[in-house]
Amino acid sequence: SVTRRSYHEKVLDHYNRPRNVGSMQKSDVDVGTGLVGAPACGDVMKLQIRVDPNDNRISDVKFKTFGCGSAIASSSYLTELVRGMTLEEASRIKNTEIAKELCLPPVKHHCSMLAEDAIKSAISNYYTKNPHARPTNLAGT
Ligand code: FES
Ligand code: FES
Repeated sequence: SVTRRSYHEKVLDHYNRPRNVGSMQKSDVDVGTGLVGAPACGDVMKLQIRVDPNDNRISDVKFKTFGCGSAIASSSYLTELVRGMTLEEASRIKNTEIAKELCLPPVKHHCSMLAEDAIKSAISNYYTKNPHARPTNLAGT
């Protein structure tokens, strides 16, 4: 959608110099891939994490977002946020944290929701490929 509100400088910074853009080999067993879309606008985000099996921490992260500036900024910021986190820590990230950091206006909150959905989806894909890594309290989810 078109908004006349100007983007906050943190959004512009991530939009102009997005961090960690790219792809990983989807078939690698230590890579989790999340691919999500925003029903509101049709924008799409792909997020991939590489996980160190020894400590369940995210050792690398890449994204590709086909979407608005806020969605690109949200995914870029998210990649900086989750690097080094355990899967459990990363799964607790809320879109409101991202929206707050980037000062997104309410009309753009679904763009940060896309980033929350993407990391959850990537983690879930990793657990599907590595069932032994799944915390027991999440079994069956
Ligand atoms: Fe307008 Fe995503 S729908 S930029
Ligand atoms: Fe749809 Fe930003 S306008 S993701």
